[in-house]
Amino acid sequence: MSNLIIAGGSRLSGIIEIPGAKNAVLPVLAATLLNKGTSILENCPELDDVLTMLEILTALGCKYKWEGNRIEIDASNLTSSEIPELLAKRMRSSIIILGAVLARCGEVLVSYPGGCEIGMRPIDMHIKALEQMGAVVDGINQGMLKVTASKLQGCEILLDYPSVGATENIMLAATFAEGETIIRNAAKEPEIEDLQEFMKKMGVKVSGAGTGVIKIKGMKDIKCEVVHRIIPDRIVAGTYLAAAAATGGNLVITGVEYDHIGSIIYCLKRIGCIVKNYQGGVVTLETPGKLKALDLIRTSPYPGFPTDMQPQIVSLLSKCSGTSVVVETVFENRFRYTEQLLKLGADISVQGRAAIIRGVDKLKGAEVEARDLRGGAALIIAGLSAEGETKISGVNYIDRGYERIEEALQKVGANIRRVEG
Ligand code: EPZ
Repeated sequence: MSNLIIAGGSRLSGIIEIPGAKNAVLPVLAATLLNKGTSILENCPELDDVLTMLEILTALGCKYKWEGNRIEIDASNLTSSEIPELLAKRMRSSIIILGAVLARCGEVLVSYPGGCEIGMRPIDMHIKALEQMGAVVDGINQGMLKVTASKLQGCEILLDYPSVGATENIMLAATFAEGETIIRNAAKEPEIEDLQEFMKKMGVKVSGAGTGVIKIKGMKDIKCEVVHRIIPDRIVAGTYLAAAAATGGNLVITGVEYDHIGSIIYCLKRIGCIVKNYQGGVVTLETPGKLKALDLIRTSPYPGFPTDMQPQIVSLLSKCSGTSVVVETVFENRFRYTEQLLKLGADISVQGRAAIIRGVDKLKGAEVEARDLRGGAALIIAGLSAEGETKISGVNYIDRGYERIEEALQKVGANIRRVEG
């Protein structure tokens, strides 16, 4: 198991190129199962979760080539419709494969994804929608999900909540359904729009991504060569901007979509950062002086402030002067990482869905443990801005969503290294 050792206090300064989005490439990889031809994906991030998804595709009969940021998938001949339990448990978001396998094979067997550090993560909306489309779901009680459907029927679906995963699953399941499927109260995240773009390149008649109402016209099958470039990772971009601000540094990030990080930049400006947007996906951040607290920020579905940036902004606010309140409205248990921030001297109290952060003058390095992806990123941000040395264990969680994070931070002046053992 590897650890990160950080000697805090260096001001970050320099340029970071933002990689492709984890939460875009995963559903697009699931969508490649619909194509009996070859799918070529560019700007793919080199992440553990991407490798896990490729291992799942291989278990289903796909072949792939991964060279740098380019992945080529051949899904011409699927030999199984069972998602290996070990892999499904390693990455609970593998549930988004369900709709694609069901559409292509008429059946799918997958272990029931459990909860995780940030919440129960139920899949009731996924199940309800697929049953509405005519699928038969059983085995939930035995911890397995067996879903069968000789032919899915297009229909109108209203989501109780704009679930990202449920929206993606329904889009994929609807691809070969009889007739049209309409998803109302669909998630509007940029990753949904990227999935739609990929599906359109495969010839699927899909529209409305980003508007909350998505329409998919069922078709017979897909066999084509498709090339698609994955959008940049808005959460990785926000994470590095927050890290620079926390160290009082200046940072240039490249390869970003400004609109995708608008709510994050709004908050950074509110606490006193100077953020500028240039042509060609370049964004600069300067930290002119002591940053100030944010009276209230609430996470919400896109285009609101993203829940995946909540731990990072809380970590940044730990040293901003004044008292900030952050309300987490998306996941019911996403403040566990704050126990670790307290070890670094942060003054945070969690009351249900709200965290009250009283800014302190300084944080002091300590030994802390990452237990989830974005909580781990928050610990790195705190360690960079603390005095002394911070040792972070559980780096495997962080590697799921950040490409060699210590190398990216070293390049902009951070004193951070990875040690094994
Ligand atoms: C996706 O998870 C992302 N993961 C998450 O990113 C992100 O936090 C989340 O969307 C919200 O933006 C990927 O894209 C791989 P949801 P997902 O379904 O699809 C409840 C990261 O750090 N819900 O939009 O699982 C659920 O419990 C990860 O990169 C139900 O109740 O999120 C949650 O409270 C973490 N029933 C809320 O909806 C359901 O059937 C939002 O979940 C489905 C969801």
